[in-house]
Amino acid sequence: MSIRIVQITDTHLFRDPDGVLAGVPTWPTFRAVLRKIQHRHGDFDYLILTGDLAQDEELETYLMLREALGDWIERCRIIPGNHDDPDNLRKAFPGLFPQQEGPLTFSLSTGSWKIIGLDSRLPGEVKGRVDANQLQWLRDELHKDPSAPILLFVHHPPVAINVDWLDEIGLDGAYDLVNLIEASPQIKVVCAGHVHREFIGQIGAAAVYTTPSTCVQFGARSEKSFDTSSAGYRIFQLDDSHHTAVHRLSETPKGHIQSS
Ligand SMILES: [Fe+2]
Repeated sequence: MSIRIVQITDTHLFRDPDGVLAGVPTWPTFRAVLRKIQHRHGDFDYLILTGDLAQDEELETYLMLREALGDWIERCRIIPGNHDDPDNLRKAFPGLFPQQEGPLTFSLSTGSWKIIGLDSRLPGEVKGRVDANQLQWLRDELHKDPSAPILLFVHHPPVAINVDWLDEIGLDGAYDLVNLIEASPQIKVVCAGHVHREFIGQIGAAAVYTTPSTCVQFGARSEKSFDTSSAGYRIFQLDDSHHTAVHRLSETPKGHIQSS
């Protein structure tokens, strides 16, 4: 049985439908990504949104996002990023977040695979953290189903992606999570957002990926920069192994790219 997972990340939406991030209007590119997913991969099993969903973190924006997802919502799972308000996420997506407190994580089994989402949001900070309680929760999830291959999502990548300014706002204290991944060969894939660019790496037996934003893309220079790569998303095909690919809009997002 083959499972198809779609990941979209760093949508940075605004309550204002004309809202712009670094020169790119975020709603039009997001909607174009949704149309492309509908056209190319609409038969996905799950759509995972990996944080930084609302740049303004307002409830109205999350409600607009829920409306845009339409009847896909049953197949959606969400983890937060640094640009997310957990209380407003809970209010907008009560079916996904029935708990009134605690980290916004998820765990689901599909086919032979288990898919887990971590909450790396560190209040008031751009960088992230996965604390000891959540690491214990992850260990417990791994022990429940020790033979299932794991696809693990987390907003902040747990490894350096070799772009200095992005690595400075990465996952604080990633050492413990990296150790757990290295000691857990059933974790086959770790996938993140946050860095608005594609990256491929490795932790122990796990492949590590990051995924383009649905809006503006960050550049590869050591200081803050942007580039003109198109908005995109990632798909995973999960069976005896995993296959993954990034799909991008064919057009460069409308608007100019600012350098600050
Ligand atoms: Fe982020």
